[in-house]
Amino acid sequence: MTTQIELVGVNKHYGAFHALKNINLSIAKGTFVALVGPSGCGKSTLLRSLAGLESISEGDLKIAGELMNNVPPRKRDVAMVFQSYALYPHMTVEQNLTYSLRIRGVAKTEAKKAAEDVAATTGLSHLLKRYPRELSGGQRQRVAMSRAIIRHPKAFLFDEPLSNLDAALRVHMRKEIRALHDRLHATSVYVTHDQIEAMTMADHVVVMRDGVIEQQGRPLDLYDTPANKFVAGFIGSPAMNFIPAIVGEGSESLTLDFGALKHKVAISSKLQPGRKVTAGIRPEHIGITSQGQGTFDVPVAVVESTGSSTFITAATRPELTVVETGRGNTRAGDIIGVRVDLEKLHLFDETSGVRI
Ligand SMILES: Nc1ncnc2c1ncn2[C@@H]1O[C@H](COP(=O)(O)OP(=O)(O)O)[C@@H](O)[C@H]1O
Ligand SMILES: [Mg+2]
Repeated sequence: MTTQIELVGVNKHYGAFHALKNINLSIAKGTFVALVGPSGCGKSTLLRSLAGLESISEGDLKIAGELMNNVPPRKRDVAMVFQSYALYPHMTVEQNLTYSLRIRGVAKTEAKKAAEDVAATTGLSHLLKRYPRELSGGQRQRVAMSRAIIRHPKAFLFDEPLSNLDAALRVHMRKEIRALHDRLHATSVYVTHDQIEAMTMADHVVVMRDGVIEQQGRPLDLYDTPANKFVAGFIGSPAMNFIPAIVGEGSESLTLDFGALKHKVAISSKLQPGRKVTAGIRPEHIGITSQGQGTFDVPVAVVESTGSSTFITAATRPELTVVETGRGNTRAGDIIGVRVDLEKLHLFDETSGVRI
């Protein structure tokens, strides 16, 4: 596979602030990559560096094999799609689409034909004569994407393009963007703070924190084998439960430490007896049983149902969250048994948080 975008040892400083720290990332042609992480972790800075809107302080950035470090944005041949659409309000959809071609000297009829072709792909054919103010949020988003598509860029760069849309439309648009990516055989880099968006849309997910890539890989690999506690807690919803624990004699047990309550569970490990670790258990890997029938019993603090699933929070320290499909009949104040799927237990070093 050809590499379309490559970053090697990229650092970015804003004065004394170190915004990107030794970023190494290789994006194969045709891949949909999501950059995900909490607000302020450097996602936009990284994306803007690809576009040339920020200069990098150290390292190499290549697009289609060419070094881009000192190439101005116009000449990088990448297209940025923003959350705020950035459409020209006084131009029709068609004019918005043809504008970038026209300023590059493409003939009027040819630009018009290109706009019609792209509009057919993005479902805008019937809206070409409208002005942005006459469009819905989803339609404006489609115009913004069409304007990027019409240039046949080497890569599409998206910065939280769906944040302004309501929940239902967001779910719809994420499928639409992914389908478009596939149809165009595009290479896309998509910034989001929403791990669900990253997991559902991308082939390759890059999890960032404080300017560092914490882990990158296929979505389900990150879910199944998070490299550290941060990634484990960031990917998956509701979030993974973390419980302090101590490895028992013979390394065949683990004592989960809920303060006053301690529960010994069987594990097979080669860990040093007495070693302190953090145990990670996803809420969906815990089942509910009647009192005395599970791995251990817990008192129930809160029960929340979305209709299709039920979130149960145990009154333990730390709290334990359990997800059940369906509604069940658990009530706040009940004592229930929880059955922990110990095969799916994650262990992390107590201090570094690195996966063991
Ligand atoms: N022009 C700038 N000058 C100084 N600091 C900046 C500038 N742009 C961004 N930052 C800082 O860099 C960090 C990363 O910002 P950003 O890439 O926008 O984060 P994200 O997109 O992940 O929310 C933030 O702490 C932000 O305050
Ligand atoms: Mg941002």
